[in-house]
Amino acid sequence: MTQSATNLQIDSARLWDTIHETAKFGATPKGGVRRLTLGPEDKQVRDWFRNACEAAGLEVRVDALGSMFGLRKGRDMSKPPIGLGSHLDTQPTGGKFDGILGTLAALEVVRTLNDAGIETETPICIVNWTNEEGSRFAPATMASAAYAGDYTTDDILGRKDLAGVSVGEALDSIGYRGDEAVGARKFGAFVELHIEQGPLLEAENKTIGVVDRGQGIIWYDGKITGFESHAGTTPMPLRRDALATLAEVVLAVERIAREHGPNAVGTVGEAVIAAPSRNVIPGEIAFTVDIRSPDAETLEAIDRDLRSAIAEIGPRRRAEIAFDAIWRKPPTVFDPKLVDAVENATRALGYSHRRITSGAGHDACNLANVVPSAMIFVPCKDGVSHNELEDATQADCTAGANALMHTVLAIAGVAS
Ligand code: GLV
Ligand code: MN
Ligand code: MN
Repeated sequence: MTQSATNLQIDSARLWDTIHETAKFGATPKGGVRRLTLGPEDKQVRDWFRNACEAAGLEVRVDALGSMFGLRKGRDMSKPPIGLGSHLDTQPTGGKFDGILGTLAALEVVRTLNDAGIETETPICIVNWTNEEGSRFAPATMASAAYAGDYTTDDILGRKDLAGVSVGEALDSIGYRGDEAVGARKFGAFVELHIEQGPLLEAENKTIGVVDRGQGIIWYDGKITGFESHAGTTPMPLRRDALATLAEVVLAVERIAREHGPNAVGTVGEAVIAAPSRNVIPGEIAFTVDIRSPDAETLEAIDRDLRSAIAEIGPRRRAEIAFDAIWRKPPTVFDPKLVDAVENATRALGYSHRRITSGAGHDACNLANVVPSAMIFVPCKDGVSHNELEDATQADCTAGANALMHTVLAIAGVAS
C-alpha cells in the first residue's frame, strides 16, 4: 500500500535487530566484533547481506574488488542511482556500529520504502565497500579509492596482508571476486551514515552531525634497523637499540602533532619487534604512523617536521630508519548542495544538529572526488570507536537512518 513519503519513518526495532543479528559474525567476548576484511567472518556477513538484499528485491552485483551493490529500481532508469552505504568489515578489536550502521541503515531505508510502496524517481543503490578499515590490507578505504580512480584494480588486488596473502587471493578464497569492473557503476550522488567516532555530538547533546569536511590523512610504513646483541654484556654506550630509537620516534610524533594542534593528530598504531626476546637488544622493528588534519598545509607541515625529526634521531642513535608515506588522502570538502540537503532533511525531522568535520577516513571521502557526496553522523557513547566498547543508542541510530532516508527521498524524488 502506498503511504505518504513526508511522514515516513524507518522501522527502529528492525534496524536495531539487524545490527545485533550481524554482530554475531565475529563477535568477541567483550561485546565487540572482529571481522577482518575478506576473512571467514566477513564472508558470513556478506552472505547475510546478499540474502537480505535479494529478499528486499534488490539486484545484487559484486565488483572485482568485492564491493557489493544492491540496486533498487527507480521510475527513471536512465538516471544514475543515488548510492548509500558504508562497510561491514571491522577493526581487530572493533565494535558493532563503525560502518555497520551505515550499511544496515541503507538496507533499512530500502525495506521501509518497500513496505510503504514508494517508488523513487531515481534508482537507489545500497553499498558495502570492501576493506574500509585498512587493518588487514593497507590502505584503508582501498576499494572506494580504486572506484574513484586513485588506484588501479590490479594494484589493489596485489596488496598483501602480513601473512603474504594478496587481496586477489583473499577475494577468491571467500568467493567475492565479482565480475563488475571497478568504477563502472556510476552514482548520481552518494550519502553515508556513520557514528561520529568522536566526542563532539554527545558533549553538545546533538542528535545529528551534518558532515561538511573530512580530515586529510597520511599513512607511513617505517622500519628501524639497529643491531641485535646480548642484553647482559653490551655496555649502554655501544648499543644500537631499535626499540629505544622507536620510543624517540613515538614521542616525536606526539610532540609534532601537539605543536600543530588543535586540529592535528598523530599516532604510532603498530610496532613489531622482528625477533623479540627479553635478553636481546631489539635489532629490527617495523612500525606505522598515521597523521591527520583537516587543513592541507598543516598536514604537509607535520610531514616535513616528522621527516626532519627522524633524520636527526636515526644517526644520533646509529640506527637506520626507513620511513615511507604509503597513503596520502587530502582533506575532503563534501558537496555543499548535498550537505544542505542533509541539513534540510534533519531540520524537517526536528532533530538537533550541527555541522561537523570527520576525523575518521570514510568511503564517502573517496566518492566525493567523483560524485556529489555527503555524510551524516550520530553520536557514539563517550566518543569511543575502534574499540569493542563502541556503543550508540537505538534512538540515535534511528534518527540517523531517518535523516538518511529523507535526504535520499529529497534527491531521488518520489515517483508520482
Ligand atoms: C578508518 O576507520 C580510519 O579513519 O582510519
Ligand atoms: Mn567506518
Ligand atoms: Mn573504522
